[in-house]
Amino acid sequence: HLSDEVMEEKIYRIKKQMGNELFIPCHHYQKDEIVQFADATGDSLQLAQISAKQHAKFIVFCGVHFMAETADILSTPNQKVILPDMRAGCSMADMANDQQTTIAWNLLTELFGDTLLPLTYVNSTASIKAFVGRNGGATVTSSNAKKMVQWAFTQKQRLLFLPDQHLGRNTAYDLGIPLDQMAVWDPIQHRLEYDGDLSQVRVILWKGHCSVHENFTLKNIEYIRKNKPEMHVIVHPECSHDVVQHADFHGSTKFIIDTIEKAKAGTKWAIGTEMNLVNRLRSQHKDKEIISLNPYMCPCLTMNRIDLPHLLWVLDQIAEAEEINRIVVDEHVAVDARLALKRMLDLS
Ligand code: 13P
Ligand code: SF4
Repeated sequence: HLSDEVMEEKIYRIKKQMGNELFIPCHHYQKDEIVQFADATGDSLQLAQISAKQHAKFIVFCGVHFMAETADILSTPNQKVILPDMRAGCSMADMANDQQTTIAWNLLTELFGDTLLPLTYVNSTASIKAFVGRNGGATVTSSNAKKMVQWAFTQKQRLLFLPDQHLGRNTAYDLGIPLDQMAVWDPIQHRLEYDGDLSQVRVILWKGHCSVHENFTLKNIEYIRKNKPEMHVIVHPECSHDVVQHADFHGSTKFIIDTIEKAKAGTKWAIGTEMNLVNRLRSQHKDKEIISLNPYMCPCLTMNRIDLPHLLWVLDQIAEAEEINRIVVDEHVAVDARLALKRMLDLS
């Protein structure tokens, strides 16, 4: 059982030894104890772009499984992508699987013919990205969702947005599409939820969500408005439509960070996103008052699985030439998933 100091010292030593052979990308939701070792930090888009340009032999991805898969899809065959804890998944990505998508696509194309283009949030499995790539669609992130939805409408009349209904709804609404032109696909019941005339539907939202961002509620905003009316509310678009509409600002983790950085000293902010990022912003901006929009804070438990012991463990194994926790996407999946990712990266 090693102390944090000893683990940190060992990690620094291995990093120094391995030099350019090792690259550690880190998502903004990672713990500070991990972020201190990052060769790059970023939101999902930045990490996908950075991964695509990497030459290091080992990419030790400090984020969740779908991010490591993306890095593997975009890497060269001699690179190895490692996830420090294989249990670092994403509940949202798990809300769309192959079987459900096949059923949905068959039923939806029966209803809407060849008018549909699939788009998937990068927070999805490699095989969902492959399904989207095969059918002419692309991935999106919360940083480029508007641009990608606009692009989708240059390709087809309607879109199927997987797996996050909230990012899909919020983005389409920002682009002027009314809620009554959006239907919801329930992948459990295999059923389209829509009351009106089907010919009006322009967006079909997959009924998935982020279990972290769903914890920010309208009640939380009402509390701030009543008790701290001078406070600005800024939220991630994985929050529900109500929450996004009642917030002052909404955008990706990068947008949230940039907004807080640019804000004047003395300003007050309630932030609706993952706890580690909110805490980091608070400690980096002591001249501003920063709180979590939900007073109980909202950690992403799977992001938090990556910690010092796991990082040290995988680095130790790599240093001893042991292959451990490697993320490999089969080439027959990767080839189509790459199409979806490349369409996004070319447009971003
Ligand atoms: P972004 O990094 O794109 O803002 O996404 C947030 C998220 O939930 C990542 O899992
Ligand atoms: Fe998935 Fe939400 Fe965690 Fe992001 S914050 S990894 S979307 S569960």
